[in-house]
Amino acid sequence: MTNTLTDIQESPGTTHASGRPGGRKPGSYTALRRLWPAVKPISWRLAGSAFFALVASVCGLVIPLILQKIIDGPITEKNLSGLWPLGITLVLVGILEGGLYGVRRILVARPCMRVEAKLRQNLYQRLQALPVAFHDHYSSGQLLSRAISDLNTIRMFLAFTAIFLMVNISTFVIGVIILLSLSWQLGLVFVVLAVPLIVLCLLFEVKYKVLARRSQDQVGDLATMVEESVLGIRILKAFGRSAHLGQAFRKQAMALRATELKKVRVVGALWAVIIALPEIAIGVALLLGVNQVADGDLSAGALVAFFFVAMMLRWPVDSLGWLLASTNETAAAADRYFEVMDQPLTVTSPAVPVTLPPSAQAGRLVFEDVTFRFPDTADENKDALAGLDLVLEPGRTVAVVGATGSGKTTLTALVNRLYDVTGGRITIDGVDIRDLALPDLRTAVSVAFEEPTLFSASAAENVRLGHPDATDEDVRQALSIAQADFVDDLPWGLDTRLGEQGLSLSGGQRQRLALARAVLGHPRVLVLDDPLSALDIHTEAAVEAALRRVLTTTTTLLIAHRASTVMLAEQVALLKDGRIAALGTHSQLMAESADYRDLLSSNAYTDQQEN
Ligand SMILES: Nc1ncnc2c1ncn2[C@@H]1O[C@H](COP(=O)(O)OP(=O)(O)O)[C@@H](O)[C@H]1O
Ligand SMILES: [Mg+2]
Repeated sequence: MTNTLTDIQESPGTTHASGRPGGRKPGSYTALRRLWPAVKPISWRLAGSAFFALVASVCGLVIPLILQKIIDGPITEKNLSGLWPLGITLVLVGILEGGLYGVRRILVARPCMRVEAKLRQNLYQRLQALPVAFHDHYSSGQLLSRAISDLNTIRMFLAFTAIFLMVNISTFVIGVIILLSLSWQLGLVFVVLAVPLIVLCLLFEVKYKVLARRSQDQVGDLATMVEESVLGIRILKAFGRSAHLGQAFRKQAMALRATELKKVRVVGALWAVIIALPEIAIGVALLLGVNQVADGDLSAGALVAFFFVAMMLRWPVDSLGWLLASTNETAAAADRYFEVMDQPLTVTSPAVPVTLPPSAQAGRLVFEDVTFRFPDTADENKDALAGLDLVLEPGRTVAVVGATGSGKTTLTALVNRLYDVTGGRITIDGVDIRDLALPDLRTAVSVAFEEPTLFSASAAENVRLGHPDATDEDVRQALSIAQADFVDDLPWGLDTRLGEQGLSLSGGQRQRLALARAVLGHPRVLVLDDPLSALDIHTEAAVEAALRRVLTTTTTLLIAHRASTVMLAEQVALLKDGRIAALGTHSQLMAESADYRDLLSSNAYTDQQEN
């Protein structure tokens, strides 16, 4: 047994599929204590529940004492009429015990579910509020397992484990006192044997804590893997990687199984001792007890009562193993929950937000000496953007061109504060974007990303994402700017369900819907990360023309790869080494910048190929 208890070192087999830096620590009771604010509103119910359970359990202990009275009284004296009152009391106590357990359950079941729902809601809100930099490092499976199974574990702990841990330990103590009062010599046997039990439980604690945390993390990793392989099913099939992935999955599943088996072994080792100790105690007490009765030091009734009580104490002791295990699992679950809740909200609205000047429906977007480095970038010198200056005059379109990995997408993510600049500032109409309330900023700045994301909702709902109150008329106009009239040809028109469980669209169709979503509500600033890459040149030109015609007051930052897109912009900026290396019209840059010519001439070739 020492073997099983000692062969668990700190996470040797732990995978790090979450990609999160730093080790994973086992659960601590601090995290459990931190659940208190959530539990406080139902604390009197929990206390009531514990009280009823304790009374019920004491009723159980009283039953042997009544038996003792029956044996030493009516039975020894052969006075059967005296049996009735004691017998009825016995039945009543039994009924009371059952009833109280029922009340206990009713008291806590619903409230604990409410606590679980509340915690889940808090977690969801936190996940929404946390910056993109957080989500870059936590895998979705890890977050999923926290939101579902960890919170479930916490609820079970509140509704059951916590209560019975208290009740069973109290019952044990009360039981031992009763045993001592029946016969202190026999009771002492139990007290002495309880010592190794306590030592063992403490030892178990340390070992099990590590395993509980590891197993929960592995469940999260497994969830990530399932999620990724479901989302990437096309590519996996296309590359014939299903079997390979199956193996990888099997390996992870086996790692989880190994951890679970270790948990079982540790609990099993504890359990063997937990079950053996009372048996030994009862055996020893029986030998001593029979002698005492023979010597006349103990009545027969007291001996019977002693054994009944001793038998009844087996459940509190036996249950200790899995109650402790479950407490540990809950500590780990609470730790995992608070790990997310404690992540700092780095991108927040200022305490006293500034509002944009209303008259200036202008949208002058200025990057002033902007520096940006991704958090956790090891290389100190590796700034994604390093001293970038760029001015976008109101209503103008500036195209940004640069090699792959030059930081174009990064630049677009800064404008509506998906990340905050690490140096310099970005202003809209003279106001630092960090001084604006986030909702205001995100109304003023609309974005369409390279990868258009559609949700499982109707086409109209997808377009209305940022403006739920937009009228059908607005939606139609946005769709027409984005040349997304194909929506009318869908089976249910605007009400057609799209996204994960809905209709699949082509890349170009998705892009146009994402663009319609971005232009809805006439933002001051429109940031487009190569949103037209999947369109043919003619559609692209039509989109651009519509954009310019309708959004005369909208400033547009347009990331572009193709010469055809670039030519639609009034000005072109070349991004290189984290700053703007050249600025001018397309023809100016073609004439003046060798880098620019290089970039665009290789693209011109692709354009010809595509069309
Ligand atoms: N979330 C991220 N964390 C760390 N580095 C990143 C992250 N996203 C992008 N990068 C790095 O930043 C650089 C610029 O990337 P990106 O802006 O996507 O380039 P582009 O859009 O111009 O192709 C790249 O070197 C890329 O590896
Ligand atoms: Mg990019």
